[in-house]
Amino acid sequence: MGAWLEDSDWMTPVSIWAIVSAIGMPTPLSVPKTEGALMTHLDLDGRPILVTGAAGGIGGAIVRHLTAANAHVIASGRSSDSLTQIAEETGCSTVTFDLTSEEEIANALSGLELWGVVNCGGFGGEIASPTETDIDVFDKVMAVNARGALLVIKHAARRMIEAANGGSIVNVSSQASLVALRNHVSYGSSKAALDNITRVSALELGPHGIRVNSVHPTVVMTEMSAFYWGRPEIEGPALARMPLGRWATEDEIAAPIAFLLSDGASMITGAHLPIDGGYTCV
Ligand SMILES: NC(=O)c1ccc[n+]([C@@H]2O[C@H](COP(=O)([O-])OP(=O)(O)OC[C@H]3O[C@@H](n4cnc5c(N)ncnc54)[C@H](OP(=O)(O)O)[C@@H]3O)[C@@H](O)[C@H]2O)c1
Repeated sequence: MGAWLEDSDWMTPVSIWAIVSAIGMPTPLSVPKTEGALMTHLDLDGRPILVTGAAGGIGGAIVRHLTAANAHVIASGRSSDSLTQIAEETGCSTVTFDLTSEEEIANALSGLELWGVVNCGGFGGEIASPTETDIDVFDKVMAVNARGALLVIKHAARRMIEAANGGSIVNVSSQASLVALRNHVSYGSSKAALDNITRVSALELGPHGIRVNSVHPTVVMTEMSAFYWGRPEIEGPALARMPLGRWATEDEIAAPIAFLLSDGASMITGAHLPIDGGYTCV
């Protein structure tokens, strides 16, 4: 067959296209090659997935992407009022707890059937160097971003192990855990602690078929980041060193998270995926 094609000077791609069109078979344009594969891999098939920080900018996008992929999303936040909008828009369920309270987390998760978790709830804390840090703020950042995420894994993974269906957990870390960012000593440290929680959880939960990964977004202009990264003197040099030269959107963070949750990522665990336009590769 290869020789036949090589010998045939009339069977160009254009003429193949013309023949295929003439006899009415689907053309490459009418059959999106990736759509079938994406639908197969990204179908979360009604699996119950908890998303913390769901009332926030990135959390809301994650809820939208996961519900679009047929997950049963359980959106969590500190108050039910803050979750009303995303629940009405997507039909997700809601649950409330404060990430600093183990009691609230344990109570909220005790009766839940869970297959997956996205630890997206987070606190930006302070803009401060090591010599200026307010150690009370440091403690609070650690309490939400690292301790809170660990508590969610602690209580959610127990449910997931009991259910014996495997599962997937994605922790929303940051580029700030991968490289040194000025004035980010508290936030970067909390996300670096979260990265270790990701690796140890991957090690311990792997035998139960539960995968644990993290994503590391660059700046997304949500409320959390705009007050600092929106300043021209901060934004200009940062974007100048980034290969893609622009900030991320909420959807650009949510889509890789949906992939990491899906069966398309079934051999990926303990990984730290930058979603940073190349910021941390230079
Ligand atoms: N924006 C960025 O540039 C950026 C970059 C890298 C990583 N990230 C990470 O992405 C995640 C989402 O950030 P975002 O930009 O979407 O911020 P956001 O809009 O401020 O959302 C943060 C969410 O975390 C929740 N939260 C904060 N403290 C909590 C607590 N004690 N208990 C329960 N929930 C709490 C907030 O709930 P309430 O609604 O109750 O306040 C809010 O829904 C965070 O983990 C953040 O560190 C963000």
